[in-house]
Amino acid sequence: MRRLSQCIAIASALAIAGCGSSSKIGSGAADVRVPTVEAQVTKAGSFVLPSAVNPELLPQLPSGDVIHVDLVLLDRDVEIAPDMHYRAWTFNGTVPGPVIHAKVGDTVDVTLTNKAMMGHSIDFHAALAPPNVAYQTVAPGHTLHFSWVAAYPGVFMYHCGTPPVLAHISNGMYGAIIVDPKDGWGDDAQDYVFVQSEFYPTLMTGSKDDYFGDLTKMRSALAEVVTFNGLAFRYRTNPLPIKVGKLVRVFVVDAGPSHFSAFHVVGTIFNKVMLDGNPENVTMGVQTIAIPPGGGAVGEFTVQQAGTYPFVTHSFGDTDAGGLGLFQATD
Ligand code: CU
Ligand code: CU
Repeated sequence: MRRLSQCIAIASALAIAGCGSSSKIGSGAADVRVPTVEAQVTKAGSFVLPSAVNPELLPQLPSGDVIHVDLVLLDRDVEIAPDMHYRAWTFNGTVPGPVIHAKVGDTVDVTLTNKAMMGHSIDFHAALAPPNVAYQTVAPGHTLHFSWVAAYPGVFMYHCGTPPVLAHISNGMYGAIIVDPKDGWGDDAQDYVFVQSEFYPTLMTGSKDDYFGDLTKMRSALAEVVTFNGLAFRYRTNPLPIKVGKLVRVFVVDAGPSHFSAFHVVGTIFNKVMLDGNPENVTMGVQTIAIPPGGGAVGEFTVQQAGTYPFVTHSFGDTDAGGLGLFQATD
């Protein structure tokens, strides 16, 4: 509070409204004011989990310019491959956590409640914030509250940043946040969101299908399961519909923790790719999008003919391990 009043005093002395940097942050950022980020920790109250949605769908942009993000940290068993139940650490009970949708200039108001058995945190790659303040670890039974302003458009990862980060990401603590550019994404499209990630399971003693994360395998990056949206071959089992002649826009995040994504759609070419989803980073005519762990990209393509178009990570050990889905194109 003292810092805030100091800030207001300095701001009025300089005859500018509000607090924080007000000029353009740098190339690629929108010209928005980014206020000081402060955080409060309180005892956790009761919470209501939002209902689960299909993880590949881009949720509607909320109205107004404050996005309320209520996340609850929960230990949950999730299915990562057919007949593989994994003891996951989650945001809101799912892996990945919910897709967050904002636009440039919005205030993202975060409430993080820890109902899990150990300390966790949240790190937004889309934010400009001091990690020791905003990304601090929240003890079980406590709630962290902070807010930040989205200055950069794109598709970004969020994840738990509590050490060892390798274990917290491997165990399922990540998701995607999409920040729309000021003028939107362009032509109307069929939007899909994909979070690629890999798992390092080991069987629980005495169980046939219950697994937990193996830190030794994580350290050597020997993944046994690779997924789009948390379940191996999710979209081979349930192909995603697209329309011939209509633009498809994919928002892809590679959560890792350690494997790169080589995102490729068989049978077509991306007419346009935006690195990290920033409209200033345009590459044309791309066969395969290189996405590092902790990175993202937006790709656009249009198919010319009805048929089945697989999408893969073209790193084929990972394709075999579950990183494959299908688009079903119809007229
Ligand atoms: Cu965590
Ligand atoms: Cu990170």
